[in-house]
Amino acid sequence: MAIIWDPDKYVGQFYAPDRRDDTTMAWLIGELADWPGGGHALDLGTGVTVAYWAAAAAVVDQITLADYTPAYLAIQRSWIEDATGAPDWSNYIGMALRYAGLPSDAAAVAQRAALARARVAGLMPCDLTRPDPLGAAHRGRYDLVLGLYCAESIAGSRVEWRGWMRHAFSLLRPGGRYIGAALGNCSYYCVGAQRFGHIPVSAGDYRAVMLEYGFAATDLRITTVPEQFPDDAELARQMRAVYGYDETIFAAGRLTEAPDAAR
Ligand SMILES: C[S@@+](CC[C@H](N)C(=O)[O-])C[C@H]1O[C@@H](n2cnc3c(N)ncnc32)[C@H](O)[C@@H]1O
Repeated sequence: MAIIWDPDKYVGQFYAPDRRDDTTMAWLIGELADWPGGGHALDLGTGVTVAYWAAAAAVVDQITLADYTPAYLAIQRSWIEDATGAPDWSNYIGMALRYAGLPSDAAAVAQRAALARARVAGLMPCDLTRPDPLGAAHRGRYDLVLGLYCAESIAGSRVEWRGWMRHAFSLLRPGGRYIGAALGNCSYYCVGAQRFGHIPVSAGDYRAVMLEYGFAATDLRITTVPEQFPDDAELARQMRAVYGYDETIFAAGRLTEAPDAAR
């Protein structure tokens, strides 16, 4: 499949190199704070975004990056190989260090980038529409799955969304952790002038799909963060129209130890 959105436009819009703060990163660092260390993580629908998986790579032994779009995996590979012309994610790597209360000077950023690169176990094609998105050998394999802004942006209906979330969860081992984020109540999002469909889901939908699948109710953390728009009402209205959403859903939880057959 050809690229979905233009990678430069996507990164320029959502991950501008001069951004000082990012709510997803802040939340992710908080979620990773009590990770016991080690294990194998998967960034499902990784796109071209290095920011989040590089933060997770710091606390696991290895991380696999998976996406449906080969061109996006090629861009990830260029960063991992530190190729000439590869995108520069140092701002976001510094942000992750800062949020974790660590030094975030240039040397610390370079060291963290090297660590993240070294921990990549592989880049894989995946298809979340399939019951085994990475093939049957990967079922129940991962200690941690990141599902960031993915299932809602590719599903064609709420029924599909629910099924594809379950496909994502099936990659976790019993007791494994899911960390996900989604645009809340969003029916489209724009990258540049192009508009893309999106399934409107709520925090309640996340809670329901996770509980139903077998996430521990006591370990479920689901929250929404409103988007910050300017005070100027007209400007805010225009930005809402461009964004197509006005809140972000963050959802994390631990799968119970029940065997696969119980799901
Ligand atoms: C909105 S992007 C999210 C990228 C990244 N996780 C982030 O947070 O910036 C959605 C991603 O889903 C991928 N995708 C599209 N169809 C898919 C499918 N059937 N299975 C898995 N991923 C898919 C796209 O290639 C794209 O990288």
